[in-house]
Amino acid sequence: MRVENVVKTFGETVRALDGVSLEFEPGIVYGLLGPNGAGKTTLIRVLTTLLKADSGYAEVAGVDVRADPVAARTHIGLAGQFAAVDDYLTGRENVEMVGRLYNLSAEEAKRRAGELLERIHLDDAADRTVRTYSGGMRRRLDLAASLVGRPQVLFLDEPTTGIDPQSRLDLWELIRDLIATGTTVLLTTQYLDEADQLANQIGVIDRGKLIAQGTGDGLKDRMGGSVIELHVADDERDRTLEALRAISHEASFETARKSIRLPAPDGSLTLLAVVRRLDESGITAQDVALHKPTLDDVFLTLTGRGAAEAEAERESTKQPGRRGRRERSAV
Ligand SMILES: Nc1ncnc2c1ncn2[C@@H]1O[C@H](COP(=O)(O)OP(=O)(O)O)[C@@H](O)[C@H]1O
Ligand SMILES: [Mg+2]
Repeated sequence: MRVENVVKTFGETVRALDGVSLEFEPGIVYGLLGPNGAGKTTLIRVLTTLLKADSGYAEVAGVDVRADPVAARTHIGLAGQFAAVDDYLTGRENVEMVGRLYNLSAEEAKRRAGELLERIHLDDAADRTVRTYSGGMRRRLDLAASLVGRPQVLFLDEPTTGIDPQSRLDLWELIRDLIATGTTVLLTTQYLDEADQLANQIGVIDRGKLIAQGTGDGLKDRMGGSVIELHVADDERDRTLEALRAISHEASFETARKSIRLPAPDGSLTLLAVVRRLDESGITAQDVALHKPTLDDVFLTLTGRGAAEAEAERESTKQPGRRGRRERSAV
């Protein structure tokens, strides 16, 4: 898959894709990680020929999607952010219908549906109308439908967003299973752990641009392993930041969550140092926590602003925000 400088604007103000470029080998799972509004779905829509880019080049399975959308489509499977299944049909009928859309014979569509429903563990519910399905079951069904045409390249747009934690684990396992056969996958997600679990390579997207690329471990290493997050009273914030910068000058305040964060390369030892330092400075924290890096942490390190903040900014302006890095210490 190859994407070069793709730009897509909506109206005069929204630059959903602002010159995004990425490239990866067939057979891998590429995780595109970014907050709400970063441009993930727009990129998927361009790559799956549902939307024409303003400029730039995109190639899927060796096919130029702009020059030859019809050929590109024959190689593509798509499971969207909102499961596109028909409520009034049964699970089986849904998958069979997609098979027919892919020009399978009635018999072949039926066979393929049966096989896929079994693979996604929906055989028991296959003959119930989709109306009765849970969110997780719908996602699984949508996934099955995206595989009917045996696509070379599969697009999964936020496959687990809005799904409860247990179904999420089940879906991860299912996705891993389904893609073990060497399908090329572009998966989008807002969760670092999801990209980490499923993808061989991760790209971080912000404001319609790729801002970092690497493995999950590589991205987490930028955070130095773990993160300490704490809350203090507003009027103690500056003093706390100053005190903690003696431990890490990357200590920063994240506006959206109103929390102070710093990398904790030595895990609980760093935590201990933080607690000591606060105590020495006579600062009382409302809470102090040590956790694994999230998208928020990676994002904060890369852009100087948190993912939630990026989303809020995007929502409020509906256009790419100010260019350049915002001052880390800005409060
Ligand atoms: N059809 C559209 N018309 C106008 N703005 C759009 C449209 N689709 C997406 N956008 C805007 O483009 C930006 C990127 O959206 P999207 O690609 O859906 O992001 P993501 O999938 O990463 O959440 C957002 O600011 C969104 O509001
Ligand atoms: Mg989206």
